[in-house]
Amino acid sequence: MKTTTPHWIAIGLLVSVLAAGAFKVIVLGNTEKADDGRTAVILEPAERQAVLGEMRLLLETTQTVVAALANNDLAAVEAAARPIGSAAIATVDFKLRAKLPLEFKKLGFGIHYAFDEIANMAKEGQPTKAIQKKLAETMNNCIACHASFQLPAATK
Ligand code: HEC
Repeated sequence: MKTTTPHWIAIGLLVSVLAAGAFKVIVLGNTEKADDGRTAVILEPAERQAVLGEMRLLLETTQTVVAALANNDLAAVEAAARPIGSAAIATVDFKLRAKLPLEFKKLGFGIHYAFDEIANMAKEGQPTKAIQKKLAETMNNCIACHASFQLPAATK
């Protein structure tokens, strides 16, 4: 009787290669270990600029929300938080998404959903203290992501 073992070895190898590829794309993204111990996410210059531009918008939005809370201006809180909510996720290019590690996407999408919640809390007229607390919690995502990832500029 002819043995089919070699086929199973070939199939096993193929499955491992595919699984490793899927793991790399879905979990690791396009990354390498950076000198400072963080994970470097390797992006095209335009993609990197897009992400950093979004970062500056996050900082600006956070400042606007903090100032509006201090002024008890819930309409201004909602107006600032809404555009950076989950609606902003749709603008993330699919090619770029594939390069972002799973943990990065979790923290990043989490930020957008948190701003949805902040906008909703303001709309419902919840106490500014509660919204402040939510914002402080949300900013733990900023800290966690910055501690884990960096976006090196292309060398040369
Ligand atoms: C999903 C990950 C992630 C989250 C969440 C995140 N950031 Fe960032 N941010 C980064 C990375 C990565 C960089 C690049 C850091 C580096 O290369 O050292 C960055 C850079 C920045 C910069 C510098 C932008 C520039 O032009 O160089 C600012 C400002 C910033 N983030 C603000 C924020 C604020 C505010 C929040 C939270 C409201 C936030 N980020 C949440 C990943 C994140």
